[in-house]
Amino acid sequence: MTTAKHLQDRVVLNNGVEMPWFGLGVFKVEEGEDLKQAVKSAIAEGYRSIDTAAIYQNETGVGEAVKEAIAENGLNREDLFITSKVWNADLGYEETLAAYDASLEKLGLEYLDLYLIHWPVLGKYTEAWHALETLYKNGRVKAIGVSNFQIHHLKELMQTSEIKPVINQVELHPYLTQKELLAYSKEHQIQMEAWSPLMQGGLLDHPILSEISNKYHKSVAQVILRWDLQHGIITIPKSIKAHRIAENANVFDFELTDQEMEQIDALNQNHRVGPDPDHIDF
Ligand SMILES: NC(=O)c1ccc[n+]([C@@H]2O[C@H](COP(=O)([O-])OP(=O)(O)OC[C@H]3O[C@@H](n4cnc5c(N)ncnc54)[C@H](OP(=O)(O)O)[C@@H]3O)[C@@H](O)[C@H]2O)c1
Repeated sequence: MTTAKHLQDRVVLNNGVEMPWFGLGVFKVEEGEDLKQAVKSAIAEGYRSIDTAAIYQNETGVGEAVKEAIAENGLNREDLFITSKVWNADLGYEETLAAYDASLEKLGLEYLDLYLIHWPVLGKYTEAWHALETLYKNGRVKAIGVSNFQIHHLKELMQTSEIKPVINQVELHPYLTQKELLAYSKEHQIQMEAWSPLMQGGLLDHPILSEISNKYHKSVAQVILRWDLQHGIITIPKSIKAHRIAENANVFDFELTDQEMEQIDALNQNHRVGPDPDHIDF
């Protein structure tokens, strides 16, 4: 496994599209100045990937910030990798096609780099996936994937569809290491992406992580994000603070030892801060 060496390094997904290993998440960031500044400072810092979703209700602001950042940093749209997700209420063939158009309209973009099914709502995600396949085949989106899928969801999806998801974006951090899902995904060339990589801030004074971070003169957040990358997992930490946006991306100048990787793996408690994908009622 080659670990990313620079903030803009990309992984080749199973359809040949290249996606940055590292990105900015904007969950719970409302439209407004904080959102705009976060996206713009991330791109100025060198981030090239932004992760939003229809349900975050901030696609308009993300789109505006992206446009300004492109102009201010002398970039092209193709330099950036923008992800959004179809919400549960819009899962269905026609509904999902319409949801994609609505997201593009809000973002003010011609295409998304990656469109994901946000949650595996039973009885609904197969039709939604067929809509994503249509969008992909028609060249309207560069890559399609899923989020919060367990192994059994992936199996069912692959049995009933033509195109394999490129990505599965799931909750993943040292208290939820997702070992089986990671092995299954590697076997099937479905790239894993970690959401809430920092467990929403809940692990930052963990004694073992602190000890490792002291050794490298890094923060606990940096150690966790480095652990993601060394496992070959895409990571998208969220922050609205410019100094943390810079800090989080400063993880390419140190390397955890195999023993430290195992020490962090051993912290797993199968503990979720978000919903369990097998028990969702929203
Ligand atoms: N697919 C899904 O179902 C799903 C679900 C949840 C999240 N996501 C995606 O994953 C992204 C990341 O997950 P998340 O937002 O839930 O949580 P997270 O990235 O694990 O943690 C974010 C929290 O940590 C703080 N933080 C960030 N960097 C820090 C640092 N260096 N030092 C100290 N505190 C720091 C942030 O505060 P400040 O902002 O104040 O810095 C924020 O409170 C989301 O934004 C979203 O794009 C996807």
